[in-house]
Amino acid sequence: MADGMFPDDPPVPAPAAAKSPYLVLARKYRPLSFAQLIGQDAMVQTLRNAFKSGRIHHAFILTGVRGVGKTTTARILARAFNYEDETGRHPTLDFDKEGIHDRAIIEGRHVDVVEMDAASNTGINDIREIIDSVKYGPVSAPYKVYIIDEVHMLSTAAFNGLLKTLEEPPEHVKFIFATTEIRKVPITVLSRCQRFDLRRIAPPGPPTSRASSRSRTPPSSWSPARRKARRATRSPSSTRRSPIRRERWRPRPSARCSASPTGRWSSTSSRRSCAATSPAHWRG
Ligand SMILES: Nc1ncnc2c1ncn2[C@@H]1O[C@H](COP(=O)(O)OP(=O)(O)OP(=O)(O)O)[C@@H](O)[C@H]1O
Ligand SMILES: [Mg+2]
Repeated sequence: MADGMFPDDPPVPAPAAAKSPYLVLARKYRPLSFAQLIGQDAMVQTLRNAFKSGRIHHAFILTGVRGVGKTTTARILARAFNYEDETGRHPTLDFDKEGIHDRAIIEGRHVDVVEMDAASNTGINDIREIIDSVKYGPVSAPYKVYIIDEVHMLSTAAFNGLLKTLEEPPEHVKFIFATTEIRKVPITVLSRCQRFDLRRIAPPGPPTSRASSRSRTPPSSWSPARRKARRATRSPSSTRRSPIRRERWRPRPSARCSASPTGRWSSTSSRRSCAATSPAHWRG
């Protein structure tokens, strides 16, 4: 009716209920294959070589800061292990088309891909359920895959309970762990897993001012004394790269000055040049 009366009216939007449900960006744009995963080339290449040569490890641990794609990678990896099409089962990293099990794995309802949140299942009893179920073969997929997210939250007893199975799991079982806190994972667990450190994606464009100021060499107009003062107060490059060493680094005694009001720096210029590299509690 409205169309006939007012032909130039903008189209009426469909009612909200008819639209697909709203998804937050992190879920909407979650990569579904390794081709869509950005910036983790080292890991992808290592996995590709392993898959090609048929030397696939039985346990993986993915670590990195929040939001680098650990959970995403774990799910894609589960898909890669269980890839099957009309030609048969062949684990692969390149999904040209959707495999038989892919849709169910993506939607988190595949019976052979078990995803456990270790932050809410921290105890030995939760691990016991896994240990008891690993001995039964997969129902339809080639492998039974156990994804344990936030694995650092497991209790000590739970970690210890996992050790024997993790060392010698049945052939049809793969474990994938994801954690932001790799230091909280016992070394005995780490030594049984292939570890991948996921990297932060570098933003496009020129380096940040802080990064460029680090690599800047002193201008040629500086006097030798000023250059010497700067050299004395700058930490070695290895120290600047490592946060722990940076914390521990102290300037050479020659850079300190008993005459200065704070008793620390030989001159204003060296103090200023040092301010960028020294921890806050050193500054006067
Ligand atoms: N390498 C990547 N390439 C493309 N998108 C990515 C990548 N890493 C993360 N993302 C985006 O970030 C979202 C969050 O990723 P994911 O949940 O896998 O991170 P996470 O490492 O598990 O984070 P957390 O430590 O918080 O659990 C993904 O849904 C995706 O949209
Ligand atoms: Mg995660």
